[in-house]
Amino acid sequence: MSNYSLPRWVCIQMGIIVLNLTQNYLTSNEKKKHVVESMNIKERVSTGIPGLDRMLKGGFIPGRTYLVKGGPGLGKTTLSIQFLMAGVRRGENVLYITLEESLDMVQEDMKGFRFDLKDPHFMGIDATPVGRKTHIFEDVHYAEFAESLKKFITAIEQRLKEHRISRVVVDPITMLRLTVNDELTYRRLFIDLIKLFSRYNATVIITSDIGESGNFGIEDYLTSGVIELRRYDVGGKTIKGIKVTKFRGSPFDEDVRPYAFTDAGIEVYDSDRLYERYVS
Ligand SMILES: Nc1ncnc2c1ncn2[C@@H]1O[C@H](COP(=O)(O)OP(=O)(O)O)[C@@H](O)[C@H]1O
Ligand SMILES: [Mg+2]
Repeated sequence: MSNYSLPRWVCIQMGIIVLNLTQNYLTSNEKKKHVVESMNIKERVSTGIPGLDRMLKGGFIPGRTYLVKGGPGLGKTTLSIQFLMAGVRRGENVLYITLEESLDMVQEDMKGFRFDLKDPHFMGIDATPVGRKTHIFEDVHYAEFAESLKKFITAIEQRLKEHRISRVVVDPITMLRLTVNDELTYRRLFIDLIKLFSRYNATVIITSDIGESGNFGIEDYLTSGVIELRRYDVGGKTIKGIKVTKFRGSPFDEDVRPYAFTDAGIEVYDSDRLYERYVS
């Protein structure tokens, strides 16, 4: 036995110390990872659709405006109401601005998905120009709509200010584009709206009917992210697919994912489900 060898109990003690140090190092790294992960989750706003949240790596970035575009009947209204209802479930105040279908009609249609738009946290602005029960355009003729834009913005700001609104939907912006009819005025209005929402730190979805043609509008450039709803042909069958084409400030899933309407709204699947559901 060498003179320099350490007694057995010292070796055991040292072993225990090394083990403890390693364990502490690992747990502190685990803790750090957990803190980073929970920070990421905290910094996102759920879309109300788990499959879409996964595509967006957690959800929307709060305080920003997003564009959801696609042809008629593809689910723009459903997706955006689902996003608002996710806020309502958390006790947030939300605002839905309808420009095409009357609020009554949307309320009625959304019952099919069990979305209760009569909830006191759910606020609506009916800006349908020819609707009977318009909240802000009473007696305003369709042709005078463009001149009422100031009134429109003021009505929105009032709601944002009074009710601490966290989520807003403008559905669809296409109506404003058509009625304003002047590119510069429309552009200014669009920018004013985004700035207004951002001042009140609201997370926003703007929907647009224009988009199936593949053309880009100013909405695509001025929003923080774009989600497209489209029909695709797969194995001779038509399926509905959702795709994130732009998401500033975050990585995202660039694949097309299939989605379907269920009795609780839209559900987004991953590709395996696409195969199971549509090809076999
Ligand atoms: N339970 C349901 N209640 C209401 N609509 C449903 C239901 N299930 C499927 N749908 C379909 O969901 C679609 C809703 O589309 P919508 O969100 O209004 O599209 P968009 O706003 O893009 O025109 C309709 O085409 C409707 O047929
Ligand atoms: Mg719609």
